[in-house]
Amino acid sequence: MSSPKHLPSKYFYDTAGDRLFQEIMHSEEYYPFECELEIFKESTGPLADFITRPEEPLDLIELGAGDCTKSSHLLKYLVRAHTNFTYIPIDISAGIIRYLERELPAGIPAIRVMGLHGEYFEMLEKAAALSNHRKVVMFLGSNLGNMLPDQALNFCCDLRRYLRPRDRAIIGLDLKKNPATVLAAYNDKAGLTRKFNLNLLHRINRELHANFDVDQFQHFPVYDPDTGSCKSYLISLKKQEVALITPGGTRIIHFAENEEIFMEISQKYTVDQINSLARHAGFTPRGMLQDKKKWFVDVIWEVN
Ligand code: AVJ
Repeated sequence: MSSPKHLPSKYFYDTAGDRLFQEIMHSEEYYPFECELEIFKESTGPLADFITRPEEPLDLIELGAGDCTKSSHLLKYLVRAHTNFTYIPIDISAGIIRYLERELPAGIPAIRVMGLHGEYFEMLEKAAALSNHRKVVMFLGSNLGNMLPDQALNFCCDLRRYLRPRDRAIIGLDLKKNPATVLAAYNDKAGLTRKFNLNLLHRINRELHANFDVDQFQHFPVYDPDTGSCKSYLISLKKQEVALITPGGTRIIHFAENEEIFMEISQKYTVDQINSLARHAGFTPRGMLQDKKKWFVDVIWEVN
């Protein structure tokens, strides 16, 4: 058992978790979604200029595409500009990939879509084998922020290995800002983020036949303005035991009173930190676009 106990945040997204995250995105306090949407709506032209080259076919790959609300603005723009490109969304959800392959050509006639359903790097390898076109990889939504900073660096180094010199990346990251604004985004008054965290315990109860007493765990988000790390914990309100059935057999997990489970990190960066992340991972920062409030940034990196 790791100490502190930890549940990887990628498991948040079952059907109920997907729905709760949709609700969070449209909540009063959760600003990152609106900020990045503004960038894709208001700066579509500059974004397109950063990634296209005359006469060169392009593979535009999106990691964790979801329903591609934000990127669809860029896709529309590229199609209208007669850019020769294929959109390659990669997502862990087969349903989402099927949806995109069906709905995108309906909304954006003449778009070429080739969805890949699976793990990011396995699908990147597939995408690389499919064509020798220049590649641009989008990783939006501050999804990189769900990794601890050293894991984020490893991830960018790995990404670099699947690309070739002159390929580019568009990375969306949330910036440091007033600490109260950040904390409120992960502690919304309607209690959606609380439900989102507790949902993972419900999921474990259902899928691993566990018996978490969900009411005995308290949602506790913290933000450290110094390090920029925003972390969510669930706190065990009493000394308790939870049983779950794993492939290895039944396991009993002990919780002390007030013991924490580390659920998620949503790391906030400064622009300088993001530029240094690029350089350490083998990229050169080529540009960045921000919303009016300067709360969020989409950076454009080029492979060295
Ligand atoms: C999907 C990673 C962007 O960390 O801000 C929202 C997930 N967690 N509220 C984030 C999330 C709690 C979100 N990302």
